Amino acid sequence: MSSKLLAPFRTHRPAYAPHLPPVFAATNRAGSVGKTSIGYNLCVQAARRGYRVLLIDVDLQSDASYWSGWDGDELPDAVKTVHDVMLGRATLAEAIVPARTRVAPDGKTDEKGNSIEPFEVIENMYIVRGSEKMSQADTELAGSETAVFWLQEVLGTQIDEDEFDVIWIDTPASLARLSISVILAATNLFICTKPGTKEFRGVRAMIRRIDEVRERYNFFKATGVATWVAMNEGKSHESQGKFYMNRQQAGEKEFAEMLLPILKSATIVPEAYDAQEPVCFWDPRHTATATLDQMLDVMGLRPATSRELKSPETVLLPRFAANR
Ligand SMILES: Nc1ncnc2c1ncn2[C@@H]1O[C@H](COP(=O)(O)OP(=O)(O)OP(=O)(O)O)[C@@H](O)[C@H]1O
Ligand SMILES: [Mg+2]
Repeated sequence: MSSKLLAPFRTHRPAYAPHLPPVFAATNRAGSVGKTSIGYNLCVQAARRGYRVLLIDVDLQSDASYWSGWDGDELPDAVKTVHDVMLGRATLAEAIVPARTRVAPDGKTDEKGNSIEPFEVIENMYIVRGSEKMSQADTELAGSETAVFWLQEVLGTQIDEDEFDVIWIDTPASLARLSISVILAATNLFICTKPGTKEFRGVRAMIRRIDEVRERYNFFKATGVATWVAMNEGKSHESQGKFYMNRQQAGEKEFAEMLLPILKSATIVPEAYDAQEPVCFWDPRHTATATLDQMLDVMGLRPATSRELKSPETVLLPRFAANR
């Protein structure tokens, strides 16, 4: 069955482990299309709505980890990352840390000379940090035919029922083995794009790859469906407006019912990344914050009910509090 035909079919739980929440993965064969910018900020805004979110950063660039207050380029060897989890050298429980937001520059002191903690925990949101060592992932996953199931296996066996409400995977631009393992573990593939020929070709390639993986591994082993296309406005200068508007309209027509509200081009996105702050903390009233909220609405992640809202004492799930 074609992923496109399944497009209206929305959020569902993995058939390989029905106790898990939906597993979303931001993808595209093409790079620099907003996978991390949109995905990371959707995770924070979902967490603010009361959902308990686990973000797994499988990208060797580790941009989502950096944005979550953990600089993947500067991790000591003892720190557990997604690479350790992939190779079975660490459990998820050992690698999960709270997502953080920067509240002060490193080394800042108060008027009494006491050092100020530069980060604050983001309530309801956790992350498995990325690692540069994921540059070896495709080779490491080539060892056996079953190695591509590592993520399914880890999620299915190491996450308890009712521990998280949303699992989100941030991926590198690729169609190789690591991306197959992501497609095998995900329920909802979230394909990001800009309005451009290269990026649209990347979306189509991704949809084809998802269909191939579903066919090859059958429905019970691969439940992922290409569910949404998230388009970033491509314009970087007013003079380019007409070209990108035409491309955007073509994208709206082609991806029709899969398309989420379009995120306008805004300097707040790179600014908030540099500051290691989510967009919604940087400027809660910005139109980018509103668009991301609209995306969550369309995805069915509406503000959670009081049952799902966490009290302040549960900012850190006890199982992961030790990894701070
Ligand atoms: N709405 C936006 N407005 C302005 N700049 C944006 C917007 N969305 C993304 N960007 C910028 O575009 C660049 C690529 O975005 P991002 O890193 O999120 O893409 P990606 O698909 O995760 O890239 P990669 O393939 O390298 O992982 C970044 O510099 C980011 O700041
Ligand atoms: Mg990225």
